[in-house]
Formats: sequence, structure tokens, C-alpha cells
Amino acid sequence: MRSLVVLGSTLVLGLAASCGGPATPATEPTAPSAPPVASTPAPATASAPASASVAPSASVADTVVGPDTVAWKDMTTEQKGKWMKVAVMPKMKELFQAFDAKEFEKFNCATCHGEKAKTGDFKMPNDKLPVLPTKADEFGALMKKKPNDMKFMMEKVKPEMAKLLGLKELDMKNPQPNTLGCSNCHTMKK
Ligand code: HEC
Ligand code: HEC
Repeated sequence: MRSLVVLGSTLVLGLAASCGGPATPATEPTAPSAPPVASTPAPATASAPASASVAPSASVADTVVGPDTVAWKDMTTEQKGKWMKVAVMPKMKELFQAFDAKEFEKFNCATCHGEKAKTGDFKMPNDKLPVLPTKADEFGALMKKKPNDMKFMMEKVKPEMAKLLGLKELDMKNPQPNTLGCSNCHTMKK
């Protein structure tokens, strides 16, 4: 239960930060995977201010675990949530807004997870995203109908998301577990 409570407050913070009116520059560290700053005891003769100024961000970095330390599948839900907030959100927001600034002017956890994210439900895939075809001819038809969206999803979203979670991309011809494909976000037609 405790971890749920913590996750809940993380979500509120995340939503507040991403929905709070005009886009404010992210204040999170942009390199959360950097090793935490070693807390070397300050030599008695050193003047204190320099190390004091790094203390706040170092303590935040301490609590964030990335897939370079713990494999995505082995992270706790709480760890995943924090990684989403500090690493996935900033990068994916940048990506989606570069693709279509107007459509994705508002970009937050719910863009991928759906409105249920607001109640702390982050189960994926999200059945509120477009349901994708699995048959080759239907997939081809969708490519014709929405070439730009499909290209963006295949060439930007899928690879970047895989990278952020430390996973390989799903190869539809040779599907393997613990990879990242369209179906990690979208539900697929039966
Ligand atoms: C760009 C899309 C995207 C955004 C934005 C996003 N997520 Fe996720 N999130 C995912 C995907 C995809 C997964 C599932 C990965 C997998 O298949 O294991 C996931 C998984 C999670 C999980 C783990 C769920 C579980 O059942 O283990 C949590 C918790 C989570 N996200 C929280 C958040 C929070 C909090 C935010 C906002 C700060 C957020 N996510 C923003 C795509 C996103
Ligand atoms: C990390 C999560 C994620 C992954 C992976 C992903 N998508 Fe998406 N996809 C989204 C989100 C978020 C949207 C935007 C939904 C919206 O407009 O609110 C979207 C939208 C779409 C749309 C609709 C575009 C439109 O405006 O009509 C299509 C089609 C699509 N994705 C196809 C794919 C395909 C094909 C793949 C795999 C190559 C894929 N997606 C992988 C998250 C994802």
C-alpha cells in the first residue's frame, strides 16, 4: 500500500507540472541516469557553498532508478513511475511536440496512459488509443491513409520509447518478450 501512496503523489506532481497552464521549462534533471554525485566529505579548509548548491539535485537523482541499473521488467511500479516522470515524459513531450505542436500542446501521462492515469491506473496497453490492425493488408491501408502519423510512430516513437526503457524494438517477424512495439501502447485488433 505504501508504494501506491507514494506513486499517487508522484502522479499528482507530474500532472500538476505538465498541465499547469503555459508550458514551463522542466525543472527535472535532464540526465537522471547520471550516477549520483558522490558525497565526498568537504575538506575542512574548503569553502562550503559549492557543494551545498549541488545537494538538492543529487538527493533527487539518488531516488531515481533507470533501466541502466535495473532492467525495466524488474523495476517496481513505483520505480517505473519515477522513471516515466524524469526521463520518459520530457523526451517524449519534445518528440510529440516537434511532430505536431498544436495537437500535442498538452502532453502528459494521460496522452499515453489515458484519463485513467488520473486515478493512478497505468496499466498498458491503453485501449483508448487507436486500435491497430495486425493483418498486413489492413496495416498497409493504414500506412496509405495516415503516412505521416505512421512514419512518426515507426521511426520516432517506437525506437525512442525502446531506448528510454532500455529495451530492444519488437521485430514483428521474430517477436521476443521484453521488447517494445506498437502493442506496448496500442491495443491490437484480434
Ligand atoms: C510516451 C508514452 C508515455 C508517457 C507520456 C508516459 N508513459 Fe508510463 N508507460 C508507457 C508505456 C509504453 C508503459 C509500459 C511499458 C511496458 O510495456 O512495460 C508505461 C508504464 C508505466 C508504469 C508501469 C505500469 C505497470 O503496470 O507496471 C507506470 C507506473 C507509468 N508508466 C507511469 C507514468 C507516469 C506517472 C507518467 C507521467 C509522468 C507516464 N507514465 C507517462 C508510456 C508512457
Ligand atoms: C509509447 C507509446 C506508443 C507507441 C510505442 C506507439 N504509439 Fe501510436 N500513438 C501513441 C499516442 C500517444 C498517440 C496519439 C493519440 C492521440 O492523438 O491522442 C498515437 C497515435 C497513433 C495513431 C493515430 C494517429 C492519428 O492521429 O490518427 C496511429 C495510426 C498510431 N499511433 C500507430 C502506431 C504504430 C503503427 C505503432 C508501432 C510502429 C505505434 N503507433 C507505436 C502512442 C504510441
